[in-house]
Formats: sequence, structure tokens, C-alpha cells
Amino acid sequence: MNLKLHVWRQKNAQSDGRFVSYDAKAISPDMSFLEMLDVVNETLVHAGEDPIAFDHDCREGICGMCGVVVNGTPHGPRKATTTCQLHMRSFRDGDEIVLEPWRAKAFPVLKDLIVDRSAFDRIMASGGFVSVPTGSAPDGNDIPVAKRDADLAMDAAACIGCGACVAACPNASAMLFVAAKISHLGYLPQGQPERASRALKMVEQMDREGFGTCTNHGECSNACPKEIRQEFIARLNRDYLKASLFERPESKAGGNG
Ligand code: SF4
Ligand code: FES
Repeated sequence: MNLKLHVWRQKNAQSDGRFVSYDAKAISPDMSFLEMLDVVNETLVHAGEDPIAFDHDCREGICGMCGVVVNGTPHGPRKATTTCQLHMRSFRDGDEIVLEPWRAKAFPVLKDLIVDRSAFDRIMASGGFVSVPTGSAPDGNDIPVAKRDADLAMDAAACIGCGACVAACPNASAMLFVAAKISHLGYLPQGQPERASRALKMVEQMDREGFGTCTNHGECSNACPKEIRQEFIARLNRDYLKASLFERPESKAGGNG
């Protein structure tokens, strides 16, 4: 396959960016999207030019590092697929492909297609640790968990923190990410002691980072490679409202509930 790429190039966080066009030649349909970028970068390096910077690590859909807006869609055209798991057979010979970084105030561009997603790390850290006194390690089945709750916790825990939900949202809201992180602990008995304070602290940190408000467009779930559902946002809203009304001040300040 031969393709034409229009890639956002930006030297660093301070400089202005612009689209630059490149030919991607002799691309196998079986290559992943990132392998296609590797091929283009080899050509650029051989020509003495700066390769296109993009984020990646596992290249198997589990680390959440990759993420490119492909023709206007975060992670590209295939549903439930990360950029690293997207294959070139999803495109046709002669296609033109526009590549951009995530666009959100809270995710500043560092270089080309790489954005700074440390805002997500700070939201996670604000939630704190689970502080249940467990004594010695309990047997695996000592604490019964209803099958439905275990399934929902696992569904929420599938979030890989990629940020596509923010990139897809017209408000650049991080509600789906925060909802997934809050829910995967909130469905389990071990997550109950700090459930309310965690909701308060993570939502407050999300607001401090400059993410937008959720207005229920649903674009986040559509773009999510792990198909995190809207119902988790409804659950986050319920937890947050309840915690705002009933959580004791010392817990809000980081006590043990
Ligand atoms: S909710 Fe989905 S899109 Fe958002 S960070 Fe998690 S995995 Fe990525
Ligand atoms: S590189 Fe790890 S999810 Fe894509």
C-alpha cells in the first residue's frame, strides 16, 4: 500500500505546530499503525530528518501509552481498538491519513503526537491508597464478592488510562476515566472505607487540572478502546453527590473515613 500522511509536527511545548505531508510507501496491510510509522521514521532518519515523535510501549493494547487522532477519531476508525492494535488493512491503498495529537488543555503537546498526560497520574494519586487494616494476607475467597459486582469492577478496571475519552469529548472532560478508576474500587468491599473521600478528592483534582464538564455527549465511550460505559459516569455522579452531602470534613481532608 502507498499512503499519504498529513502529520502534526511540533518541536516542543512552546513552539507552534503545523501539518507536514509524508509518503508512506510499500506498507504491508498486516503492519500495525505504529509499525507503519516506524517505516516512515526510518525513511526520515535516513534522510537526516527529525523522526515523528509518538508515544508507545506495550504495543498490545494494555499500557495506554499510544494514542493518535487518526482522521479525526482518537485511536482511529476501528471500535474498541488502540492505535497500536490498529492494522493497515483498515485503510485502502492511496488513502490520505491525518494524524494529530490528543487535543485538550489539560494534555499539552510535548512534541509532535506526544502529549503530557501526567494530569491523569495526579488524579490517580489524589485518590490515595486503600487503607483497610488487613493483618496477614487473607485467603483469596475470605471476602465474598457478588458475581455482578466482581464483573462490574473488572469492566471498570479495564481502563488503560489512554486519554482517548478526553480527546473525543467536545468539552475535553475526563469523567469517563475518573468514573472507571473510582468504580473499579467502589464495587469491591475493600474499596468501601475511602469510597466517599476518594470520589471527592479525585473529582476536585480533575477540576484543578482543567478538564471540562461532562454534558453527556457519549463520545468518550464511543472512542474508548476498552468500551468503558456511560453508566460508570452516572455512578460517579451519585458517589460524588452523596459524598458532598454526607462526608465528614476530616475525611475530605484525607482521613481514614
Ligand atoms: S476510559 Fe477508555 S478512553 Fe478513557 S482513559 Fe480509560 S481506556 Fe482510555
Ligand atoms: S502501546 Fe500500549 S496500549 Fe498501545
